[in-house]
Amino acid sequence: MKTLLIALLVTLPALARADEAEALYNQTCVACHGPDGKGAIPGTPDFNKADSPLHHKDEATLARSILDGFQSPGSSMAMPPRGGMPSLTEEQAVALVRFLHARFGGNK
Ligand code: HEC
Repeated sequence: MKTLLIALLVTLPALARADEAEALYNQTCVACHGPDGKGAIPGTPDFNKADSPLHHKDEATLARSILDGFQSPGSSMAMPPRGGMPSLTEEQAVALVRFLHARFGGNK
């Protein structure tokens, strides 16, 4: 029983962050990346594809791209810093990367 309780206390904050990440995605990121992660506007990567950044960049790099913004060479459209949400924290950016992996694939 005690072990179960400890397991719950350890898991709950992680679950809360996962829910929060999904809510953040649906509030903000969805406008450009779409509910299916395929990209709602030209220039956004299709997160489902094997050649998407989710599959070939590590978690820290992806979190950095979310926080600082990102533009690939020659790209017509940039990812805005913090997805345009100035209050987005580093922890939320990491939670968002994990959410993207859970939803669209890639496992780094
Ligand atoms: C205004 C449109 C827009 C919004 C809002 C937006 N993105 Fe992006 N995002 C882009 C575009 C465009 C790219 C591709 C940029 C490029 O490759 O030049 C991108 C790229 C990315 C990448 C890949 C970065 C890399 O290093 O290759 C990730 C991860 C990402 N976005 C996550 C998010 C998350 C999470 C949010 C919400 C907090 C978000 N985006 C909000 C437009 C947007």
